[in-house]
Amino acid sequence: MKDDNFLKENNARHLWHPMGAPGDLQANPPKIIKSAQGVHITDIDGHSVVDAVGGLWCVNLGYSNDAIKEAIAKQLYDLPYYSAFAGATNPPAIEASLMVREFFADDGMARVFFTSGGSDSVETCLRLARQYHRLRGEPTRTKFLSLKKGYHGTHFGGASVNGNNRFRIAYEPLLPGCYHLPSPYTYRNPFNETDPARLAQLIAQAAEDEIAFQGANTIAAFIMEPIQGAGGVIVPPETFMPLMRAICDKHGILMISDEVITGFCRTGHWSGARHWGVKPDMMCTAKGITSGYFPVGAALMSDKVAAVFEDDKTGEGAIWHGYTYSAHPVGAAAVIACLSETLRLNTAANAGPRGAQLYQGVLQLAEKHDIIGDVRGGHGLMTGIEIVSDRAAKTMMDTATMKRIHQTAYEAGAMVRLSGHNILMSPPLTITADEVDVILNALDKGFAAA
Ligand SMILES: Cc1ncc(COP(=O)(O)O)c(C=O)c1O
Repeated sequence: MKDDNFLKENNARHLWHPMGAPGDLQANPPKIIKSAQGVHITDIDGHSVVDAVGGLWCVNLGYSNDAIKEAIAKQLYDLPYYSAFAGATNPPAIEASLMVREFFADDGMARVFFTSGGSDSVETCLRLARQYHRLRGEPTRTKFLSLKKGYHGTHFGGASVNGNNRFRIAYEPLLPGCYHLPSPYTYRNPFNETDPARLAQLIAQAAEDEIAFQGANTIAAFIMEPIQGAGGVIVPPETFMPLMRAICDKHGILMISDEVITGFCRTGHWSGARHWGVKPDMMCTAKGITSGYFPVGAALMSDKVAAVFEDDKTGEGAIWHGYTYSAHPVGAAAVIACLSETLRLNTAANAGPRGAQLYQGVLQLAEKHDIIGDVRGGHGLMTGIEIVSDRAAKTMMDTATMKRIHQTAYEAGAMVRLSGHNILMSPPLTITADEVDVILNALDKGFAAA
């Protein structure tokens, strides 16, 4: 490894970073994170902080899980790679598929298609949803419904159902046939409705209206996150996902639950759909499936969907879709170890109370700092804070102030994530009460510096 001077001199000079402006990053180079232990990360200058971001909503088990590290290392020696395209497989992939299936059995999931990450899992679900309807004799069902503020990755399909124009405009035209419903976002919505249950009803009505307008027999699937993550931690009321499930059933539309963040206990339940008592038809997962230690995702299918593919006699049921790294043996070994550890550590049990502590703590900060416009969370370890320069007018805070809040909080002991004028937090699910307090104290200092 090159020395620190080399790293600082070359930082962002050759590497284009995801989700950042290359010129801006050259002028303001990113923090170089060199090591991590437990829930702490340490930068190149030796400054150590609690990682309230959990890597990127993914390091659910913290940074020191030796079981996953050892499983990855061992698998590299046994079999570092082999293709899983038709005709070959590998032992960890077989075992991991059963584990993932069992993990999500209560959600009605029956089959597993491994991918390299969340965007791949979304893409897989969208594509297989269309094929499912073709196989059933309804080839006109090609369109997708989704929610504004939703984030479904950056492949063309995922970006097309994405509900935030920051990820869309520069890449248009996107996939035709994708339609967006309002988000269950009580702080700002086109109905000016602040009551969550009434807002859910209005969105359900808008969904019925859109379906009638498009023609139900043209719609393949509706995709949603059980709690919208990157859009600002937007928590729907408990009625919302069941309402949308009923609408999908009524019109023969598949429901895809995008669990890339909410899967594997982040909400305090094994999946986000289970948190709301809903059984989807498909699930997209990634992130917590390996705690970020290896890039893996999985698209999951219910029995209903699986049967249509597996019972096909026309020859059209073959899946002409997949990735070089689908069912990667090292990734699968990471999945086996990570799921065993998730069960052993019972992270769902910690995510609930620590999430409540973080959420309540931020609500208390909101009494002190009037730049806090809205606080969202309370369902596991996902907390969003919307920062405003004028509380009454809900004016979004400017970027320079957001950066100052971020840097001050970092210097005071916590890495948080900025997304526009939102602060997003999703620390490892292994975090302790004292470590949550470190985050809250750091935020307090950050807000005081605004
Ligand atoms: C809900 C959701 N879906 C899909 C994705 C895309 O995942 P990836 O970045 O692994 O491609 C993300 C990433 O944050 C996500 O939050």
